[in-house]
Amino acid sequence: MVSFFTAIGGFFVALWSILTSFLPFCLIDISVEPAVFECGNDNYCIVWETSTKGSGYVEYTYNGEEKVVWDERSGVIRTDDTVHKVVVPKEEIQGNAYKVGSQYVGFKYGYSASKGQTVESEEYNFNGVPKDDDIKILCISDIHYMEKEMYESLEYFTEKPDLIAYLGDVTSDLITKDQFADYILKDAHDLSGGEIPVIYTRGNHETRGEFASQIIDYFAMETNEFYYTFEFGPLSAIVLDSGEDKEDDHQEYSGLVDFAGYREQEYKWLNSLEKSEFADSKYKITFSHNPVLNNHFGKDWTAPLKNLDMDLIVGGHYHKSEFKDGELPVFIDCGKNKNAAGTWAASMMTLKDGKIHMLTIDNSGNVLLDKTIDA
Ligand SMILES: [Fe+2]
Repeated sequence: MVSFFTAIGGFFVALWSILTSFLPFCLIDISVEPAVFECGNDNYCIVWETSTKGSGYVEYTYNGEEKVVWDERSGVIRTDDTVHKVVVPKEEIQGNAYKVGSQYVGFKYGYSASKGQTVESEEYNFNGVPKDDDIKILCISDIHYMEKEMYESLEYFTEKPDLIAYLGDVTSDLITKDQFADYILKDAHDLSGGEIPVIYTRGNHETRGEFASQIIDYFAMETNEFYYTFEFGPLSAIVLDSGEDKEDDHQEYSGLVDFAGYREQEYKWLNSLEKSEFADSKYKITFSHNPVLNNHFGKDWTAPLKNLDMDLIVGGHYHKSEFKDGELPVFIDCGKNKNAAGTWAASMMTLKDGKIHMLTIDNSGNVLLDKTIDA
């Protein structure tokens, strides 16, 4: 009798799966196309959003072999989310084509699942191939919902970047997952076309709101935190997470942050980095949303960075364009410009012939900064 009911149950589940493939509420779309994020030396993570929950996979061909890499945890494919993250080895995707796909999954039962439509993206030709020199990094900080002005400013940069430095404060808070997908992911895709690696640097505004503690789940940094290192040809980079910009007991945080503990852990990690890891690199750059770190909550974070022979710290946060010279120079990219209301500026950094060139242009074509330093 048990096997009879099991068979009947299996029949109805199979029938349900066939029917749901055609039902409107079992359809699925890609609502935010993929972006490829730096997360260390070995892997990239590819992130996209679908209109309803379901599975996620990335497909490409490597060494003649067709590969499918799933969004999974400990062997179980994730099906209960609309945002999908797949971690792929850098060497397999650099200079290669890939596409992402998702299938609607209504529910996973103990012994079966109700599934619906499968959707796949177009094929993206990912670059990410490190060059020997002449590396162009598009710097985007503090968008704060000024996408229109951002794209106006990008009209003044004609050369295609090799990397996007996505320097934080894309949003002004992160209360919902939709904000994360519709701004952080969507802007990352629109800026990179899914074909250029994006260096995500968390902004202080992205630590605020109900959803803020969850965004780490959608990245795959080697440290499992927002601070990490990576190499790109002759560039060695440190990405720091400057966290919140005020003490933990500030009333804005309602007693619900512990950046004191987080900073301590990050500072310890920074001090654990070995000079030899960076020794062979022609260009050594630190990315940090707040790049002014000589007195970062009572500690001089530039001391370990100087020990690692960093050439420059790049960030945003101050809503102005500025270059601070010194033993370890600081380049403040602009974004939303507090000195001219309604204006917004992006920057292009060019690493070439042992020099770092920084060029900042606003959405009216005004050059706010044009500076070259030796690396
Ligand atoms: Fe900001």
